[in-house]
Amino acid sequence: MSLSSTEGTRQIPLSKHFLAGLASADLKPEEILESVSIPHSRKWEFVSAFRQAQCQQNALADMNAAMRVLLKEGSDTIEDLSIAYGGVGAATISAQKSCQQLLGRRWDELMLVEACRLLLDEVSLPGWAPGGKVEFKRTLVVSFFFKFYLEVLQELKKLVKLSSVSGSCRYPEISDRFLSALEDFPVAVPQGVQMYQSVDSHQPLQDPVGRPIMHLSGLKHATGEAIFCDDIPMVDKELFMALVTSTRAHAKIISVDFSEALELPGVVDVVTAEDIPGTNGAEDDKLLAVDKVLCVGQIICAVVAGSDVQAKRAIEKIKITYQDQEPVIFTIQDAIKHNSFLCPEKKLEQGNIEEAFEKVDQIVEGEVHVGGQEHFYMETQRVLVIPKTEDKELDIYVSTQDPAHVQKTVSSTLNIPINRITCHVKRVGGGFGGKVGRPAVFGAIAAVGAIKTGHPIRLVLDREDDMLITGGRHPLFGKYKVGFMNNGRIKALDIECFINGGCTLDHSEQVTEFLILKLENAYKIRNLRLRGRACLTNLPSNTAFRGFGFPQGTLVTESCITAVAAKCGLLPEKVREKNMYRTVDKTIYKQAFSPETLIRCWNECLGKSSFHSRRMQVAEFNKQNYWKKRGIAMIPMKFSVGFAATSYHQAAALVHIYTDGSVLVTHGGNELGQGIHTKMLQVASRELKIPMSYMHICETSTATVPNTIATAASVGSDVNGRAVQIACQILLKRLEPIIKKNPEGTWEDWIEAAFEQRISLSATGYFRGYKAFVDWEKGEGDPFPYYVYGAACSEVEIDCLTGAYKKVRTDIVMDACCSLNPAIDIGQIEGAFIQGMGLYTTEELKYSPEGVLYSRGPDEYKIPTITDVPEEFNVSLLPSSQSPLTIYSSKGLGESGMFLGSSVFFAITDAVAAARRERDIAEDFTVKSPATPEWVRMACADRFTEMIPRDDPKTFTPWSIPIA
Ligand code: MTE
Ligand code: MOS
Repeated sequence: MSLSSTEGTRQIPLSKHFLAGLASADLKPEEILESVSIPHSRKWEFVSAFRQAQCQQNALADMNAAMRVLLKEGSDTIEDLSIAYGGVGAATISAQKSCQQLLGRRWDELMLVEACRLLLDEVSLPGWAPGGKVEFKRTLVVSFFFKFYLEVLQELKKLVKLSSVSGSCRYPEISDRFLSALEDFPVAVPQGVQMYQSVDSHQPLQDPVGRPIMHLSGLKHATGEAIFCDDIPMVDKELFMALVTSTRAHAKIISVDFSEALELPGVVDVVTAEDIPGTNGAEDDKLLAVDKVLCVGQIICAVVAGSDVQAKRAIEKIKITYQDQEPVIFTIQDAIKHNSFLCPEKKLEQGNIEEAFEKVDQIVEGEVHVGGQEHFYMETQRVLVIPKTEDKELDIYVSTQDPAHVQKTVSSTLNIPINRITCHVKRVGGGFGGKVGRPAVFGAIAAVGAIKTGHPIRLVLDREDDMLITGGRHPLFGKYKVGFMNNGRIKALDIECFINGGCTLDHSEQVTEFLILKLENAYKIRNLRLRGRACLTNLPSNTAFRGFGFPQGTLVTESCITAVAAKCGLLPEKVREKNMYRTVDKTIYKQAFSPETLIRCWNECLGKSSFHSRRMQVAEFNKQNYWKKRGIAMIPMKFSVGFAATSYHQAAALVHIYTDGSVLVTHGGNELGQGIHTKMLQVASRELKIPMSYMHICETSTATVPNTIATAASVGSDVNGRAVQIACQILLKRLEPIIKKNPEGTWEDWIEAAFEQRISLSATGYFRGYKAFVDWEKGEGDPFPYYVYGAACSEVEIDCLTGAYKKVRTDIVMDACCSLNPAIDIGQIEGAFIQGMGLYTTEELKYSPEGVLYSRGPDEYKIPTITDVPEEFNVSLLPSSQSPLTIYSSKGLGESGMFLGSSVFFAITDAVAAARRERDIAEDFTVKSPATPEWVRMACADRFTEMIPRDDPKTFTPWSIPIA
């Protein structure tokens, strides 16, 4: 590198000093980097670089390496060698000693073995190394070198052919089956086809229902013009709030000293539990901690200051002393040991499993571990509370799926009637369940600050705090015992699941119930027992997340089916088919339903994906490739929508027509990006028979539509759509006499006439929906209005040496019935699928042995990006299906696609199983999600994974602990 400064120029070599990050090799502050010169490689010199990250792109490498060898001209003797690794220490490590010792050796198998031994010795990594993934990285040290070894051989072969150095030396042959080890997975632009039914040709042009209308804010989202909560300009006298959180997992708070913080410039006040005029949350779920903390990240108090920088600076000056308490529980295993649970066990049972187990050909038992998931909404939690000067009124702008809950919580916290508090939600930058319960906590704490100081308060979590404080999807540990016949017919199944609920109840009981209700997925198993419990641990409380337990739990069911297939020597898809619901039947909780569209989705997906022929191609590919394997899997889905509580099946809307004919629609749903406002205007447009251009939705507000339910459980459009429909029908009924009198008139004429004739142009529509219930004593009920059915087939290719994978293709068939808006619904299916794929592949939350979440940003936590989308990605909506209970026979598709992401997971495990079969290692490995590259690499055990040193887990404290 050439550096220059006023002192002149100097050159520093990119040598081991530089790589080691030594100060002498560092740039001085006044120096600029002028050029970097990279020498051309010479003939007989070979250079290569390797890299492995959690995902292919947009990720820092877990480990990388650069290797260079110079061979003696015309021979295979090593004249010079350099090897450097990144990711195995604080700085780049150059394996000088190993290289030195390999000089003069021939480039052959013996050298390879020796090199691996030397490298593992020199580039060593302790078991407790920060960043973890220790055995993976050790394996990569040698896997990368093996790749280099092959690459050089391959190049040599070419060189010899070209320069006809014939016969002078012979290089080891690489078998064709090994060659694909050299290929990387290039980034491809994903392509796909979306298929849906077009509307009936008789449908009036003006009527937008069923048409693929673009999300009304779509362009504004893309340009940045869409206003989110924190885009609201600063209001007069506004102050910022920042939260002080616990650094201990379970402790008594001995003292909190904020005297120093109060003296910092700009700091106005500190808000503690003592400032709360009303109730401080629930007894075991306090808004602000009192006397004790139950997890790292629990909110203790809040600083109010003139700017966010000042508030955050003050936080660091607050001194809290703790006294640690026992027990400290993080893992599900520990919770079970301590009998630490949040709520009673939920159980459903049918038939007689004990008896059935006695009559089966085989029995298999297994365990499944599913990691949690961070919501990673684009817009973190935020709220702006504006106290009015009169009558204790408050205006609250908040990013939430449930403004009524924020309003209620603020009311009880401040001891002010609900009618003084108005919550406004223009749009939410993603919620995914993470903004059902939590925003009320932030709203209430900010409101306490507003009341205490008399100033408007803005509370905006940065990503790090959002990830630390708010929990996510419940990690799950599942055990199954399955009895089956050799033809794949399952006769008895016993599943027991535990979820990690964190330190408060939150939605954990609901999640456990949903988990148990949905666990059977698409299968009719006569003797079936499903049990679930939520564990109380010292972690931030886990909460609602798209799919509510279904995506985790059903992974256990599907893993069990895969295990049965392996034992029977059948395709998993055959076993799935064999055990699937076939005719009108009853679920385990005795709700009757028809699986007709489930079967149709399955069959269409088989056809559309050419499953059987591609299955054969995959097998052929695997025969021809040793270091790369392909896998393919198809998964069926029966997903229930709605909450199993009647009170959730209601909604209201308020529709105003103004004298110019324009229409303002409000309803109880919140726009999360899922397109509910677009759909509601489509409904209003059909009902009022005027184009959507007449209509507008400004915001969701507790003042226009009161007592709403959370926009959740996929039924937002179902219930609010009916409310909007009813409101519009009321209005149209009122207008009917006027229209009859002047049928040729325009909409504007009619509205003008209506106003003249004193006809009210505003109406509330109220929808009283489904009566849902479950009797857990009897184990039966009628919890769900309907099911969404679907099937997905995914194919992947894995690199057995690095664990990298590429998603080759995914086909989804979903039963959306008569989609209100196929563009939005397919977007929801795609989005949920990708989010599910992230859950099952790359999204990995890491905790320290002290219960501190390490993964607190996009560097450490990898959600899928555009380059992770399957190269070919097709989604089709099942034609001609009907659902009588919903608006225009549509279905709510917000969550269901999530689980279909598991088809990628099962394709990966299918590929791993192929590798293991070939290497003659046991096929029944413990199923663990996410199937990260680390997991894939270590599951594809081979001579390299055997070579690496293994540590005795008792001899050190690992960097992170598994909590599922
Ligand atoms: N889509 C976007 N873009 N953003 C979101 O936060 N949340 C999902 C889903 N789709 C979400 C989303 C979840 S968890 C649910 S329950 C549904 O939307 C809720 O909205 P709906 O009932 O109107 O489908
Ligand atoms: Mo969705 S998890 O029901 O908000």
